Amino acid sequence: MQYLTIALPKGRLFQPSIDLLNRAGVFTCEVSEDTRKLVFEDREHQTRVILVKAVDVPTYVQYGSADLGVCGKDVVQESCKDVCELLDLNIGYCRFIVAVPSSSSITDVGGLGFNSRVATKYPRVAGEYFSSLGMQVEIVTLNGSLELAPAVGLADAIVDITETGRTLRDNDLKVIADMGSSTARLIANRVSYRARRSEINDVTQRLREVVK
Ligand code: PRP
Repeated sequence: MQYLTIALPKGRLFQPSIDLLNRAGVFTCEVSEDTRKLVFEDREHQTRVILVKAVDVPTYVQYGSADLGVCGKDVVQESCKDVCELLDLNIGYCRFIVAVPSSSSITDVGGLGFNSRVATKYPRVAGEYFSSLGMQVEIVTLNGSLELAPAVGLADAIVDITETGRTLRDNDLKVIADMGSSTARLIANRVSYRARRSEINDVTQRLREVVK
């Protein structure tokens, strides 16, 4: 029998994801983010974990290099990949927000001027949000350190996720709009979900019990 491959994100969701898999008895071998090793196998449970960048999890799953994956709803939404979303894992809770410098006189999103520049790692989500408000803004796509953008004049505002609020505070930014929440999801490759349905259902059920 082929191992069931699960793509896990490095970064903020790594440890909570591993803890969940462990508690669910899906993958119980030691996995460390601190090595260069990217593939870990659990013979007993016939599962393999691969460690990838969080934004790449849906890609590995869509192409079937991983049968399952764990990634934030924010990443699933932004990636628009063709994958099945199986379960809300209830970890990695964060909120999508629009923020501007604390010193700004703007207090809500309507205060952003026509063609304001908005920096984000989530161009699709941000674009849809502003379109839904009938606002025309210029989206500037960055890969990280968004908080810097308003400080150096690259953007008037940012669209980002916030968990503890620390990054916003440390960079003198204030929230002017809450765009909704995001938590981590278990996603599956569509072909795997048909071909290996009983194994995948078993993993999903075990995780569901732990999440409860
Ligand atoms: C996210 C987000 C902020 C930070 C917010 O980045 O883009 O930078 O976390 O978290 P906080 O409210 O708890 O301070 P993340 O760590 O996911 O990754 P990145 O910075 O590498 O993009």
